[in-house]
Amino acid sequence: MKKSIIKGTGMFVPPNLVTNHDLEKIMDTSDEWIKQRTGIEQRYWIDGVTGSSDLGFEASKIALENAGWKPEDLDFIIFATLSPDIMFPGSGCLLQAKLGLNKTPALDIRQQCTGFLYGLATADAYIKSGLAHKILLVGGEVHSSGLDKSTRGRDVTVIFGDGAAAVCIEGVETKKEAGVLASVLHADGNLAGALMTELPASRLPVRMPPEIPFDDVRYYPVMDGSAIFKKAVRMLPKVINESLEKAKITLEQIDLIIPHQANMRINQALGQFLKLDETKICHNIQKYGNTTAASIPIALHEAMEQGRIGKSGDIVLFTGLGAGLTWGSVIYKFL
Ligand SMILES: CC(C)(COP(=O)(O)OP(=O)(O)OC[C@H]1O[C@@H](n2cnc3c(N)ncnc32)[C@H](O)[C@@H]1OP(=O)(O)O)[C@@H](O)C(=O)NCCC(=O)NCCS
Repeated sequence: MKKSIIKGTGMFVPPNLVTNHDLEKIMDTSDEWIKQRTGIEQRYWIDGVTGSSDLGFEASKIALENAGWKPEDLDFIIFATLSPDIMFPGSGCLLQAKLGLNKTPALDIRQQCTGFLYGLATADAYIKSGLAHKILLVGGEVHSSGLDKSTRGRDVTVIFGDGAAAVCIEGVETKKEAGVLASVLHADGNLAGALMTELPASRLPVRMPPEIPFDDVRYYPVMDGSAIFKKAVRMLPKVINESLEKAKITLEQIDLIIPHQANMRINQALGQFLKLDETKICHNIQKYGNTTAASIPIALHEAMEQGRIGKSGDIVLFTGLGAGLTWGSVIYKFL
């Protein structure tokens, strides 16, 4: 059976840097509060008309070049985002057209912070079943155009950043143990209300009810931050252990853990709970904030560029929890 092998990665963030001090000027917050509670120092927000597919396109060009592929080589595109460019069609189709393609299948994944994990598991299943051979998996988000930038929304708004990353994955025939060793995915829709944006809502007779003003809180993401925090700290070690058991390896064999970058404190707590050496867990939330579906592949791209991971035989574990709720863990071994 073919193994799903990463051939190239790329990332892109928009040029408009927004520091915590910039946020102090538009809402009642402080650099100290944001750094202490989340670890975030800055993030990038779009400036002008830019969709998730535009950011994804820039990241994809780099990933394709690193893989030595042309867009025409692709036989499947997966785009993970909670912030599609428009209501429909999905950002995967928009990206496909930007890549100059006109028949390559394109699938959108709406799994928020675990979009990359669900996307990687899906790519692996497509490769192992023989349905696809060269896949472009993209995580891309434009949060900034949908955030409440007044003091009312400060708990959520300071956290999120815009960005994208792309990974080229190829089905490779090899007897070596390599590729995706295990994927474990979970969801609990009973907790959908813990982190959501309610409007516009297709379930309503009118999606944007005229009696509700456009600055109503329901048009913005709302989050029960402490509930999500507690859930993450409890569920991530469990799902990591499930994936280690499935892959029949131990935590000591993992060279690097790349968790979703939602909050530095969640990831530090995870590291302490697992008794991990600090060098074995990846943090870059300081620079980008939470870029949701893009956060894990951005961290992967950086870790590979820095030489922290990527040698033959290296094993990386991706994990995360977010809206849905959804959570999961995927273990990957470099060929
Ligand atoms: C959002 C989060 C950083 C908030 O941290 P917290 O320690 O739980 O803080 P609280 O929500 O209890 O708020 C504490 C105080 O800070 C205030 N506050 C909230 N946001 C603030 C901000 N940006 N700046 C300054 N003060 C802020 C609150 O109003 C509250 O004030 P009060 O004590 O006077 O009522 C944290 O809960 C978190 O990261 N949760 C998980 C997020 C996550 O993983 N999401 C899923 C993936 S997207």
